[in-house]
Amino acid sequence: MDVDPKTYNLDIDSIKRYITPKTKAIIATHLFGQPCDIDKLQKICDERDIRLIEDCAHSCGAEYKGKKVGSFGDIGLFSFSLPKNITCFGGGMLTIKRPEIRDNVRKIQASFPEGRKTKIVKGVLAGYMSHFFLSPKIFSFFSYPFLRILDLFNVDITDTILNKELEKFYNKDSESSGGRLSNIQAKAGLLQLSRIDEVNDRLRNNADFLSRHLKNISRIHLPRATALSKGVFSYYRILIDNPDRLKRLLLREGVDSQRGNIIDCSKLKFFRTKEKDGYPNAEMLSNRGLEIPNNYLMKETDLLTVCNILKKLDRKGDLR
Ligand SMILES: Cc1ncc(COP(=O)(O)O)c(C=O)c1O
Repeated sequence: MDVDPKTYNLDIDSIKRYITPKTKAIIATHLFGQPCDIDKLQKICDERDIRLIEDCAHSCGAEYKGKKVGSFGDIGLFSFSLPKNITCFGGGMLTIKRPEIRDNVRKIQASFPEGRKTKIVKGVLAGYMSHFFLSPKIFSFFSYPFLRILDLFNVDITDTILNKELEKFYNKDSESSGGRLSNIQAKAGLLQLSRIDEVNDRLRNNADFLSRHLKNISRIHLPRATALSKGVFSYYRILIDNPDRLKRLLLREGVDSQRGNIIDCSKLKFFRTKEKDGYPNAEMLSNRGLEIPNNYLMKETDLLTVCNILKKLDRKGDLR
């Protein structure tokens, strides 16, 4: 089914059309950290004895009506892979309400092998490498010039190459990749969990700042916190007619934005469906989205620099 173009989440008002007697569960993603309208969804599920699974991969710490996401549905799933607001170099967490589901999950989990050491070491290395290459000095003197040189040859490693790889991965036949989280990963996660509210507050304040300064640029559609919720803004994703062009213009001004790995699921082998008109909102969000940098370490002066560059590009007519 399609998504709501305002919230980027499931279009809950049209969900009933897609429910059949075979529907066992609904997976609702709180996309880009903004909670779905869970009350409405829960009512639909409860009336039909359908399980509700919350995908909280982007939204650890987000709240709906004052309650954390992941505490509403039968299962909440959290991802701790690299770009998330908690990262354990892979792995994740489940919140489970019903004891019978919990026991089943524990049984499945017990059958998983110990996480392979090579995989963990690779994850930790990838984490340290991205930290190293994105640290302010290395980024200015090495990573940024490298990206600019590639740009001269029309090569975009972050999005074009990596996302092609990702699309291939998503299109592979599903296979179990289960492995247990190691103690060191769990320790790293617990340390981050203890300051997740502080990180989320900073991300939220940054997003507020960006939205206040960008609100008069009519060619940019800004992300909005959904009503009744307190979202997480690890992803500040704007919509614009030509995001690839804006990405290149921003890079030339020293700002590294991301198209992100957002693929319209209906295009993937696993989900391919026969909806005649396709899913125009999902397609639009995938075609027009661009992530503007938002990081809890960014200060107002950094955010202002990004806003001023976008305003300058707008004045020059470059956002068309
Ligand atoms: C919305 C969403 N759900 C689930 C996942 C899967 O998480 P993992 O990579 O930890 O398997 C991701 C990964 O980025 C995601 O973006």
